[in-house]
Amino acid sequence: MNNSNKTARKRVLFVCLGNICRSPAAEAIFRKRVLEKGRDIIEEIDSAGLNGYHNGEMADSRMIRVAQRRGYNITSISRKFNPNIDFDKFDFIIGMDDFNVKELKNLAKKAEHISKISKMTDYGDGISYNAVPDPYYGGDEGFVKVLDILEKCSDGLITKLRL
Ligand code: 4NP
Repeated sequence: MNNSNKTARKRVLFVCLGNICRSPAAEAIFRKRVLEKGRDIIEEIDSAGLNGYHNGEMADSRMIRVAQRRGYNITSISRKFNPNIDFDKFDFIIGMDDFNVKELKNLAKKAEHISKISKMTDYGDGISYNAVPDPYYGGDEGFVKVLDILEKCSDGLITKLRL
């Protein structure tokens, strides 16, 4: 892909801490909505985690179950964010909260890489959240809230990519 070509299709990477709750859900929701609304704008969608604690694992069973009820199929396997590959490969590197964004910026070595980093809620027009909260230590309601936020932000991201 030629990044200087404004019409080039984009590669999008969603990033959270463990890559078993928020970013796999973001990947599944965004993929489904892109297929429904705008597949011509996307080349690749992936997700990764910053801590690598769950490398090789399926997403959290609670996240899979709650997402399935809304028609999203979460199939990704957890992997650690790789600064040596991911910063060059992806056009949009999207963290779920301020901690993710700060960590990604710490890992970035070039201004070009830093410019690719954003936060998922930046795309949520009119939402009252400034982060996608980590649902890992809570109940099902936290996972449902993650889906609500991600659906709105995914639509906003599609709008942004169409500009
Ligand atoms: P996620 O949630 O970042 O949304 O995947 C977490 C899952 C597991 C851990 C942290 C966050 N953990 O450290 O085990």
